[in-house]
Amino acid sequence: MSTIFHVGIDLGTSRTSIATSTGKRLTTRTCVGYAKDVIAQKRFGKPFLLGDTALDNRLALNMVWPLAEGVICEDEKALEATSLILQNIIDEALPEKKAGDQIYAAIGVPAQASITNKKAIIDTTRSVLSKVLIVSEPFSVAYSIDRFDECLIIDIGAGTTDLCRMHGAMPEAEDQTTLKVGGNFLDQQITQAILARYPDVQLSAQIIRRIKEKYGYVSEKSDPIVVTLTEKGIPKEYEITDILRECCLQLTDPISQAMQQLVGSFDPDFQARLRQNIIVAGGGSRLKGIDIALEKSLSPYGGGEAICVQDAEYCGAIGALKMCLEMPPEYWEQL
Ligand SMILES: Nc1ncnc2c1ncn2[C@@H]1O[C@H](COP(=O)(O)OP(=O)(O)OP(=O)(O)O)[C@@H](O)[C@H]1O
Ligand SMILES: [Mg+2]
Repeated sequence: MSTIFHVGIDLGTSRTSIATSTGKRLTTRTCVGYAKDVIAQKRFGKPFLLGDTALDNRLALNMVWPLAEGVICEDEKALEATSLILQNIIDEALPEKKAGDQIYAAIGVPAQASITNKKAIIDTTRSVLSKVLIVSEPFSVAYSIDRFDECLIIDIGAGTTDLCRMHGAMPEAEDQTTLKVGGNFLDQQITQAILARYPDVQLSAQIIRRIKEKYGYVSEKSDPIVVTLTEKGIPKEYEITDILRECCLQLTDPISQAMQQLVGSFDPDFQARLRQNIIVAGGGSRLKGIDIALEKSLSPYGGGEAICVQDAEYCGAIGALKMCLEMPPEYWEQL
């Protein structure tokens, strides 16, 4: 007898996460590393590695990050890589799956992903899935915490920040904004700022990400932040307290402005309720002081209240899974 499995997938620029109807949760980096040469291929015993394993062995691999600014790049390589990543995470999450079983998936994509992009996702999943539902990322966050009343979801990802006003029904175009800034943009800002102050230090994408995730903040004050970096291999301590705050503000300032715009253009009878219900999700919600910084930027509007979701890593996937289990048939794309 064939079984139907339901899965919710959050296909992100930096991470892809899955939640299944069998209770599994998995997350992986959204990247594929192709062996650089025959030696690399011999060492790994296969032509490519995926996710964290690829990242750990990246010196011998050509890395492909198929999503940029939250959407799949529209070239062959990126499509192939996306398909490999999705196929692999589904296989790992559903080891009990047999030939003939069916998988229904809801996949979260940025609020303003283009039609071509949605089509690209549907095409890449054709071989793996029986039915697919493409859902807007911030909407799946709202779904995961059962918030359909007036609230404003702010999903700060790696490639984009998606803002979405909820008001009980399906959000429309004017309820959503996608900003092309997120964690990756912040990484670039931090890299430039550190090099401007300390031109000879050696940096890599991983070093910057670790510094940001551990020390990044937008609160008014911070203890001094001193990190150990190398200069021609010699380790030394570098002070980056102010640099880090200034960079983080370059991410949060445009988010505050987009939030103000969505509040200011909402039905005036409901603006207060919207301001009091700001929900911050995505990896960027872990930035220290982000909730209070957003609240402060609403003080000219009468103040606000922002909370960060508990489970930033999985709430997109969990919301997508819930939708997958609840959506009536007419919303589905049959493959
Ligand atoms: N503690 C932290 N402080 C600041 N940023 C963080 C922290 N933890 C994770 N991040 C950043 O959050 C980003 C990843 O967030 P998330 O997993 O929501 O993105 P994504 O869903 O892959 O991207 P997108 O939604 O743009 O496609 C990365 O840039 C990561 O470095
Ligand atoms: Mg995301």
